Amino acid sequence: MLLRRFALLSAVISLSSAALLASPGGYTGRTLKTSTSGCGGCHGSGRNTGVTVAIAGPATVVAGAQATYTVTVSGFSGSGGGVNIAARRGTLAAVSSTLQLSGGELTHRSGVTVPATYQLTFTAPATAGTDTIYATGKTNGDRWNWAPNFGITVTPATGVDDGDGLPLATALAQNYPNPFNPSTVIRYDLPARMQVQLTVLDLTGKMVATLVDGERAAGSHTEQFDASRLAGGVYFYRLATPGGILVRKMVLTK
Ligand code: HEC
Repeated sequence: MLLRRFALLSAVISLSSAALLASPGGYTGRTLKTSTSGCGGCHGSGRNTGVTVAIAGPATVVAGAQATYTVTVSGFSGSGGGVNIAARRGTLAAVSSTLQLSGGELTHRSGVTVPATYQLTFTAPATAGTDTIYATGKTNGDRWNWAPNFGITVTPATGVDDGDGLPLATALAQNYPNPFNPSTVIRYDLPARMQVQLTVLDLTGKMVATLVDGERAAGSHTEQFDASRLAGGVYFYRLATPGGILVRKMVLTK
């Protein structure tokens, strides 16, 4: 009887210590947004350039909209991987179950097997401008490194119905940035699927680029316009749909 009770007690102890080991870990405030020491000091003295940390996702997000990004940590393999991800202005949220939000930043829950890919969402700030995603990643052992900072252009939001999330009318937004050199982003909204032609014209009305020529779905669309081969000056961009033609002006500074 005594022996049985002892066996039961030790089973309870080993269960609770297993729960302790699996408890969520994580470190924040360790990206280039706020720190120059990264995971160092505790995990090795400096960054290990054999570790690759990469951020991937859209380079342009409409103000207030959400987009999905991935952070990949590779270079060594094994268990004991972790990460810290931060944004300068926007809001981050975890998609992968290996991530958790802590003080507005993302970090791992416990040691993750590497190479590892972490998925997250970024909600752009309500006002247009630029933003940055930062990441610091650790592989097994005390090897860690920074990701190159990931720059995002946040374009202005206009004319979106907050009911079904689809635009109420066909609209052509002011390009962003403007003036620009050498590239800018043009956004247009479609209330329904339709035929679209988006072209760029010079001051004399001569077409210098075709950005879209085909059918596009309902919703907001963005096109990057690269003008590196054009001379500086005023240009027009023109959206032609079965519903009509919209034209706006932009300035290439060279
Ligand atoms: C203040 C010191 C400190 C900092 C800073 C720190 N860690 Fe740690 N970390 C520790 C300690 C202590 C442990 C526990 C050691 C152990 O479990 O052997 C640990 C454990 C871990 C583990 C768990 C290891 C495993 O095998 O489960 C991961 C993953 C981890 N850290 C990732 C990171 C990452 C990523 C950073 C930077 C973003 C970081 N740590 C920054 C102190 C630190």
